[in-house]
Amino acid sequence: MKAAVYKQYGTPEVVKLEEVDKPTPKSNEVLVKICATTVNRTDCGFRSAEYFISRIFSGLFKPKFRILGNEFAGVIEAVGKEITTLNINDKVFGYNDTKFGAHAEYMTIAETDAITIMPDGVTFEQAAPITEGAHYALCDIRASRIKDGDNVMIYGASGAIGSAAVQLVKYFGATVTAVCNTQNVEVVRSLGADQVIDYLTRDFTKIDQKFDLIFDAVGKSSFGKCKPLLKKSGTYISTELGKNSENVFLALLTPFLGGKKVLFPLPTIIKEDVIFLKELVESGKYKPLVDRSYTLDKIVDAYKYVETRQKVGNVVITLT
Ligand SMILES: NC(=O)c1ccc[n+]([C@@H]2O[C@H](COP(=O)([O-])OP(=O)(O)OC[C@H]3O[C@@H](n4cnc5c(N)ncnc54)[C@H](OP(=O)(O)O)[C@@H]3O)[C@@H](O)[C@H]2O)c1
Repeated sequence: MKAAVYKQYGTPEVVKLEEVDKPTPKSNEVLVKICATTVNRTDCGFRSAEYFISRIFSGLFKPKFRILGNEFAGVIEAVGKEITTLNINDKVFGYNDTKFGAHAEYMTIAETDAITIMPDGVTFEQAAPITEGAHYALCDIRASRIKDGDNVMIYGASGAIGSAAVQLVKYFGATVTAVCNTQNVEVVRSLGADQVIDYLTRDFTKIDQKFDLIFDAVGKSSFGKCKPLLKKSGTYISTELGKNSENVFLALLTPFLGGKKVLFPLPTIIKEDVIFLKELVESGKYKPLVDRSYTLDKIVDAYKYVETRQKVGNVVITLT
C-alpha cells in the first residue's frame, strides 16, 4: 500500500511517500481502508519532535511508528476474529494518537479504541476532522466544569481546537466571546460565538467583562494577561505549556490557593467521546471547520501549510 513514511524527526521533507506492507488486523482489530485523514498540529509535533517530551511516546532517537495520521475516516475491509460490534463495509471514523497510522491507504485499530460508525449524512472528508481539535477542547472544557449561563472567552477561536471549542462551549450552554483576526471574524461568528473580538483592531484584555473561563486555544496569551478578566474563582486554560512551562507550575499551585486558577488537563480520548462527537454532528451542534484539502501525494505541502500556524480549522488529506 501507499503510505507517507517518516524515518527521522525533522522538517516536513522527512515525510516520503513509499510502498509498504499492508497491515494485518490482530484478532481484536479491524482493518480500515482510509478515505480521508488530516494533517494537524499533533502530527506536526510528533514529526518534528520540537518538544523533546514527545519522544518518550514516539521513540528517543527515531520514530517507533513510521506512519503518522491520527484522525481517519474510511471503510472496514477486514475484521479480527474477536470483533463483535463492527462489520466489513461499515463506514467508520475516529482517532489514534498512540499508534497513529492514518497517513496510508490502510490502518489497523482495536475495536475498543476511539472508533465508531460515521455520523449520518456526512462525507469522509467531513468525518475525518471531527476528533483532533474537538477532543482537546472537550477535555479542557470538561475540566473547567463550566455550566449553563457561564461566561467564556475563547482566545484563538479560528484554529482546530478553538473552532471546536466555540461550538462545544455553546453546546454546554455558556455565552462565548471569541477572539480571532479580522479575516476570520465572520466564520467564527457563524460557529455560534455570541461576540467576536478582532485582536488586530481591539485589545481583548481591555474588554469590560468578567469570565468564568478563558480558554487560550492557541497558547499565545498568558494567565498574567488574562487574570484581570477572570471572575473571582475563574479558570484559565491554555493548550501550550507557556513561557518556561509556567502553565504546568501554575496548574500545580493555583488550584490550592483559592481564587483564580490555572488548569492544565492531560488530553485523553475514549470511544465514548467519539460517539458523543458523532451525536453532536448528527444533531447539527458541531461541524468541524475545513480549511483546505490535499491528496496524499501532496502531504508535504499540507504539513508546510499547517506549520504556517494560520490554518482556519482543519486540513484534510483525501485518498481515493
Ligand atoms: N504538541 C502537540 O502535540 C500539540 C497538539 C495539538 C495542539 N497543540 C497546540 O495547540 C495549539 C492550537 O492548536 P490548533 O491545531 O488549534 O492550532 P491551529 O489550527 O494551527 O491554529 C491556527 C489558528 O490560530 C490563529 N492564531 C494564531 N496566532 C494567534 C493569535 N496570536 N491570536 C489569536 N489567534 C491566533 C490563526 O489565525 P491568525 O494567525 O490568522 O489570527 C489560525 O487560524 C497550538 O499552539 C498547538 O501547538 C499542540
